[in-house]
Order: sequence, then structure tokens, then C-alpha cells
Amino acid sequence: MKITVPPAMLAAATQTLQSAYCPYSNYPVAACVSAEDGTLFSAANVENAAYNLCSCAETNAICQLISSGHRLITSCLVITTSLPLVSPCGACRQRLSEFAQGNIAIYLCSTHGDFEIQYLHDLLPHAFGPTHLETL
Ligand code: THU
Repeated sequence: MKITVPPAMLAAATQTLQSAYCPYSNYPVAACVSAEDGTLFSAANVENAAYNLCSCAETNAICQLISSGHRLITSCLVITTSLPLVSPCGACRQRLSEFAQGNIAIYLCSTHGDFEIQYLHDLLPHAFGPTHLETL
């Protein structure tokens, strides 16, 4: 079975990449997350002179999806301009895990056409989640 990048997600993230605010790292990233009904939310990384306040593209996209009233993420795409392809950082994996509809696909892309697919459960095995907080 041939797996391809969802074209609408790629187009949205590629467009959003132009908005990356990354004067400190010069490392633009954009992410697009899909909600259960197919609505797409894209965001770029937003850095800060206080470096520890830098915000990842994936986190910003997740926040948009949730703030719009959605509660489920069905897939995620991340794009950069360079290789190696970027896979969500640890904190973003945990944030994706909170809202992911199961073992979602994560598409890693470059603006030069490079492409790889990863799955959330491979990126974050033994994830901490809501069930850990349930009282017995
Ligand atoms: N970054 C992301 O936006 N997503 C990732 O998955 C990894 C890193 C951003 C954060 C920062 O603005 C820049 O890339 C360099 O770390």
C-alpha cells in the first residue's frame, strides 16, 4: 500500500511555514493537525528572546484545535526546510497523546519533497494519560 502525504495538510503547513518566528534558531517549523471532522489547524514555531519561552509549531497547532472546540486529533504533519526531518519533541508528543485518536500518523516533511511517516505510539510508548489519574 502506497502512503502519501495528505495534500491539504501539506499545503496548509507549507503556507504557515512563512509565518515562523525563529530569529534565534533560524529553524522554521510548521505543523498541521487534523480534527475528527477533517478541519485543519496549522501553526508555526514562535520564539522569544527569553529562549525558554519558545513555543513549538506542534504545540501551537494543538492549542488552536482545542481552542476551536475540538477534542480529537486524527493526524499531524510537521514540515521544515532542512534535513534531517523533524519529529515532534518530547513535550509535543505528550501533548499530541492527550488528544490523539489512537495511534495517529505523523507525517514528517521537508519543503524539498522529503517525506517519512511515523506513528505516535512508536514515538511515545508507555504514555502517561488520563487513565493513570482515575481513582480505583
Ligand atoms: N521546534 C518545533 O517547532 N517543533 C519541533 O518538533 C522541534 C523544534 C522549534 C522550536 C524552536 O523554535 C526551533 O524549532 C529550534 O528548536
